[in-house]
Amino acid sequence: MKKLFILLCLGAPLALRAEDGHQLWLRPHAAVPVTVVAPASSSAVLATARRELQQHWQGAAGATVTLALRKDKALKYDGFRLSKQKIEAATEAGLLYGAYELLRRQQTGQPVASEVCNPSYELRLLNHWDNPDGSVERGYAGKSIFWRQDSALVVTRRDQKLWQEYARANASIGLNSSVLNNVNASPLILSAGYLGRVKAIADVLRPYGVRVYLSVKFSSPVLLGGLKTADPLDPAVVKWWQAKAQEIYRLVPDFGGFLVKASSEGQPGPQDYGRTHADGANMLADVLRPHGGLVMWRAFVYSPSDKDRAKQAYNEFVPLDGKFRDNVLVQVKNGPVDFQPREPFSPLFGALKKTAVMPEFQITQEYLGHATDLAFLAPMWEECLRSDTHQAGPGSTVARCTDGSVYAQKHSAMAGVSNVGLDTNWTGQDFGQANWYAFGRLAWNNTLSSSQLTDEWLKLTFAGSAASAPAAVGSAADWNAHFLAPVAQLMLASREAVVNYSMPLGLHHIMSATHDHYGPGPWWAPPGMRADWTPPYYHQADARGVGFDRTTAGSSAVSQYHEPLAARFNDPATCPDEYLLWFHHLPWDFKMKSGRTLWDELALHYDQGVQQVRQFQRTWDQARPYVDAERFGTVQNKLRAQSGNAVLWKDACLLYFQQFSHLPIPPTVEPPMHTLDAVLANDLPRPRANGPARP
Ligand code: GCU
Repeated sequence: MKKLFILLCLGAPLALRAEDGHQLWLRPHAAVPVTVVAPASSSAVLATARRELQQHWQGAAGATVTLALRKDKALKYDGFRLSKQKIEAATEAGLLYGAYELLRRQQTGQPVASEVCNPSYELRLLNHWDNPDGSVERGYAGKSIFWRQDSALVVTRRDQKLWQEYARANASIGLNSSVLNNVNASPLILSAGYLGRVKAIADVLRPYGVRVYLSVKFSSPVLLGGLKTADPLDPAVVKWWQAKAQEIYRLVPDFGGFLVKASSEGQPGPQDYGRTHADGANMLADVLRPHGGLVMWRAFVYSPSDKDRAKQAYNEFVPLDGKFRDNVLVQVKNGPVDFQPREPFSPLFGALKKTAVMPEFQITQEYLGHATDLAFLAPMWEECLRSDTHQAGPGSTVARCTDGSVYAQKHSAMAGVSNVGLDTNWTGQDFGQANWYAFGRLAWNNTLSSSQLTDEWLKLTFAGSAASAPAAVGSAADWNAHFLAPVAQLMLASREAVVNYSMPLGLHHIMSATHDHYGPGPWWAPPGMRADWTPPYYHQADARGVGFDRTTAGSSAVSQYHEPLAARFNDPATCPDEYLLWFHHLPWDFKMKSGRTLWDELALHYDQGVQQVRQFQRTWDQARPYVDAERFGTVQNKLRAQSGNAVLWKDACLLYFQQFSHLPIPPTVEPPMHTLDAVLANDLPRPRANGPARP
């Protein structure tokens, strides 16, 4: 271990450069000579694998590494067989992933036995919510790396360099696909000019094994093609899409396919023509099939067919099970509402048995503090992936119901909504990089633990980064004890801290819309606003209590879960505390499992969240000697802001709910420093030109 640490220190930037975070987890190391023996091929992917090993080898000096292409029944998709000096795979991309795995093991001090590493999912994708004008929906790290308003169609050297760095980062963690534009898609993206830029991006991403996809607007045949309809069963519409697909594949022969948000949040879709989601998805799937393309059709729909928004996607999609073509994947957000800090898993997982279902996670922190708050999201994704749906007996976890282990499916995939932008460090908050990293690694292996991911990421991202090493920072044991262990602990606790100070005990969707989903807003309900876009719809606080009654006596959303979950969630005595107010409307003096009242328990959770963030600040302050000054200072400032944000959440929510509970804040809880009036004054809805719009 001591050797490893010295190696890490030596491998760190030798000429002390400031660390601005741009290198991500791929910081340069002093080269160690190695010979790479690879199949004779001019393939760009193979060349990348060879170059990566030659430039970043940290194993025995003068070693020979052999890369071999070999069919092997044990290998799935781009899986590989790894040993200390040999990588075998059935595909060239597999050799590239094997090379990155070997380098990662060297840099993090993990052993290499003779082993097979297969990806859990065939497709491992980032979804970029980037618009052709360069803005990024729910992006907090600067403008788009792909698009920009001024010269959308001119590709510069700088663009290409950035795209190459991006592709390399993705490949190094096993990601193989990128959807280049927002699900709220502009029809422009399919115009000739933009497709030219798509080709340019695809050409840079290809040597790293990353394929490109596009989000498409369902009404493109009308908006771009001038047709009168976008009805998926209209032959002229089908013809238009066929011609468009041919145009795309001429430019990008390995184009991956389309991602579609249709009949959702005002987006056009097949339902505008009396057709179903399956009709729409299948039409596009048939158009793409001759080219080998796929359709990812989103299940994020909530037309007000039922009073409970959480039930609507299930209601719409379960009757369509078995009706989708085999090159369609239905893309389902982890929870039934919308990327909240905590939701139970979407009941669609496991319930769709004859349809390929892919999980969609949100890497960008729309509801978890943007690029300010530190929230490591692997524990949230792990929680979802490990949730047992019971749909095909015990052990049918979300992970197994989506990766092909439980149901036969031709394709499998996992998507994450990217947090990447033009900021130098890519993600705004330096620790946001850990979410990009963890997402990729989990898409490769959906059984990895959050603690393994923190360990890997911290070593790769920070080891040896201290600008000047004081005497204390001398040994591996010291670094492990004073940096790795406490900072890993901080990361592992960070998502729960956000839940505690914002939406504990199953509360959800009570954020401020005025501040773009940052900070508290349980009161937020401008006149005329659609009810299920307002927090009071979700928390239902009144003199009797708080929470959304989704029991069989309420909306009966519990019934969408397979037994024994339905019964467990339905009874407040057996419902896990973390989902209590998701499924129940309970009196303020309801007796919790802890023996405390619901009101007191709520207050304690809010307070605990605040205390946790303060502890994160102390931990980070103590980590100072081990981190370069630049990243130390940035994270320190962000934690300071997060601490203020946590106090605001606590004060605002307790004072707001107190209007209904009429109960005192428990004496052990820090008294509010804000007044409700002041908080409300800061959260007045902004006037909008066209009346109430989607917040
Ligand atoms: C959320 C988010 C929107 C996004 C939508 C989606 O509602 O706030 O910006 O368009 O999810 O996933 O389609």
